[in-house]
Amino acid sequence: MEPLRIALLGGGTVGGAFYALVQERLPDFHALGFAPEFLGVLVRSLDKPRAIPESLLRSRPFDLSEADVVVEALGGVEVPLGLVRPALEAGIPLITANKALLAEAWEALRPFAEEGLIYHEASVMAGTPALSFLETLRGSRLLELHGILNGTTLYILQEMEKGRTYGEALAEAQRLGYAEADPSLDVEGTDAAHKLTLLARLLVDPGFPLTQVEVQGITRLTPEVLKRAEAQGERVRLVASLYGEGGRWRAAVAPRRIPQDHPLAQARGNALWVRAHPLGEALVTGPGAGGGATASGLLADLFRLLAGSPGHLPAPAPRPPLAEGSPFPGVP
Ligand code: NAP
Ligand code: HSE
Repeated sequence: MEPLRIALLGGGTVGGAFYALVQERLPDFHALGFAPEFLGVLVRSLDKPRAIPESLLRSRPFDLSEADVVVEALGGVEVPLGLVRPALEAGIPLITANKALLAEAWEALRPFAEEGLIYHEASVMAGTPALSFLETLRGSRLLELHGILNGTTLYILQEMEKGRTYGEALAEAQRLGYAEADPSLDVEGTDAAHKLTLLARLLVDPGFPLTQVEVQGITRLTPEVLKRAEAQGERVRLVASLYGEGGRWRAAVAPRRIPQDHPLAQARGNALWVRAHPLGEALVTGPGAGGGATASGLLADLFRLLAGSPGHLPAPAPRPPLAEGSPFPGVP
């Protein structure tokens, strides 16, 4: 049995669920010939109750150079970047759920992603395959993509449709572990913009800048707006869109009115809908947030690494759009 030394950065909703999932799936690791061993789990506080043995918890950064893989679920940008960059420089692969890190520190991380050292299925739609879905789509040319990529805002809108207030629904999304540590990232659309940027880099332009995404959140939406849409046979969702306009790619996150019979409006979970040539239309939908759902995406990447597959490679070069597309109508 070969040892598999894992350095886990973060032991909160996602990190804690990942630790538990690795224990649950030990027989699968053993069948592959690996014996996972955690070198340490980085957290802020040693006093919080959590289902990770105390002996593994570290409140100060620890030596990652002995790790076979670094799994990052801290959140933020500068702190994780400072920790993972030396490990990547030493050739240690990184599995991360942190879309803010990838979206915002791309200049530093892109060379490692191009080497195949960065695995990040969990960063978009948690364990629901979004990146591997788009990787398969490389056999086609993307015409347009529209996604419900943020679980917190989806939950808030679904609950508001049932009559709950915005505040109650947000508090519940936080309790369920869906929201970011700073939930303004969710409700103002930044988290969806981070994710859309990662998808654009994977599919249409490896250097797609985060600043090119136009962003509007859901904070202005009222129950009346949702009711009015429903009366008109529509549903309001925070939609991340990538489409051709004037010969270039346009990326936008905004509340949109989707016809109720469209697959995106019918999806109960997060969803990614694409139109591509010659494939046609395709949809993937499922949970996009939560500890277990996200841990399953991290674990899928770990299995991908153990199988000898590279991380998620950015698009090889920028590709102009093949056709013009359009977003769903906005909310007045
Ligand atoms: P979380 O519950 O707040 O967990 C963060 C963990 O990192 C905690 O254990 C925290 O320590 C630790 N931590 C944060 N900053 C630290 C620092 N400076 N030094 C040491 N430890 C630090 O957050 P989460 O929901 O697990 O999210 C983690 C990452 O996964 C984020 O990048 C998030 O965007 C991403 N993600 C989350 C979800 C989800 O549904 N929650 C889904 C997909 C991706 P303490 O426990 O001591 O506070
Ligand atoms: N806060 C994020 C969301 C977590 O609600 O979608 C999953 O990336």
